[in-house]
Amino acid sequence: EKGGFASFMDKEIHDQPQAVADTLLGRTDLEGRLVLDDLRVDEAVLRQVDKIIVVACGTAAYAGQVAKYAIEHWCRIPVEVELAHEFRYRDPVVDAKTLVVAVSQSGETMDTLMAVRHAREQGATVLAIVNTHGSTIPRESDAVLYTHAGPEVAVASTKAFLAQITASYLLGLYLAQLRGTKFPDEIAESFAALRAIPEKIQQVLDAAEQVRETARSMAEATSVLFLGRHVGFPVAMEGALKLKELAYIHAEGFAAGELKHGPIALIEEGQPVFVVVPSPRGRHSLHSKVISNIQEIRARGARTLVIAEEGDEAVLPFADEVFFVPQTPVLLAPLVSVVPLQIFACELATAKGLDVDQPRNLAKSVTVE
Ligand code: BG6
Repeated sequence: EKGGFASFMDKEIHDQPQAVADTLLGRTDLEGRLVLDDLRVDEAVLRQVDKIIVVACGTAAYAGQVAKYAIEHWCRIPVEVELAHEFRYRDPVVDAKTLVVAVSQSGETMDTLMAVRHAREQGATVLAIVNTHGSTIPRESDAVLYTHAGPEVAVASTKAFLAQITASYLLGLYLAQLRGTKFPDEIAESFAALRAIPEKIQQVLDAAEQVRETARSMAEATSVLFLGRHVGFPVAMEGALKLKELAYIHAEGFAAGELKHGPIALIEEGQPVFVVVPSPRGRHSLHSKVISNIQEIRARGARTLVIAEEGDEAVLPFADEVFFVPQTPVLLAPLVSVVPLQIFACELATAKGLDVDQPRNLAKSVTVE
């Protein structure tokens, strides 16, 4: 069933173009308008939503953090992202105008389920973004948007993560369409850009040997840092999580802007640092700010492993290695930029002789609080 791959995880990484394509399938009508048929929630309720809170755990929570950037931009609705177990035990400000989005691959994570129950008790509408049909979280939610990643076997989530991000983009574009916060042609354009993503992921997979080789050369590493900014921040966090989960290496993700406020003290000779560089085509000159970060850490001895967009030559003078990924609209970039980090963790763990599908101490679905 591994289809010739060394592990389920490796197979699932390669399933990602399909997982994204399948999650996008059948989402438009003949006029090209987005339709989320399976949502089963009253449009009037969605029109009056004034706040969105995403609740999730682990990798699914990083999908939520990516969603925040896109949904706020497209819909002008404030989006909070909270770990489900933290949400549940504080006194969150939630009412009938709050849309709580629960993101879960399994649909069975107890922490997330408890957050769903808590939100509904407070009168919120709960929408589940879930991969497993018939699971508990969608059953207990008001609405559901299924990801179509197919069954995910490896404990560490990969294709479900990409499908969760894809589904949350669909939700954002759908809300923008419903509430009129974006022009129809802008929504159609973003949807068309999403449809082009599977091909771009495939290009990253086809070029994977470079990152695999780097991973194999780093089997002795004891600490790896990850920096990212804007949507690259949750990508950095996810890259660090994958490495902890699979290779048992101390790994931390940081917002690149935070570097000078603390983490730069960690940089010493030979410290490997992955940097997820924003597109040079983006607004707000984030690109040049992250390039400066790379310079700063390199000057202090860091080994810089850079993920950048094809054609971004500005990174070359400061990168020990560059992993280029195809050009992508800024908000959609995580769907391609996280892939080298998944491959890196999987390959490094394999090089250490570890079981990447069943890492120690972890379970695929945690059904206790
Ligand atoms: C963890 C899994 O325990 O649960 C992670 O090991 C996963 O891979 C997290 O991201 C959340 O799981 P789910 O099923 O709610 O997405």
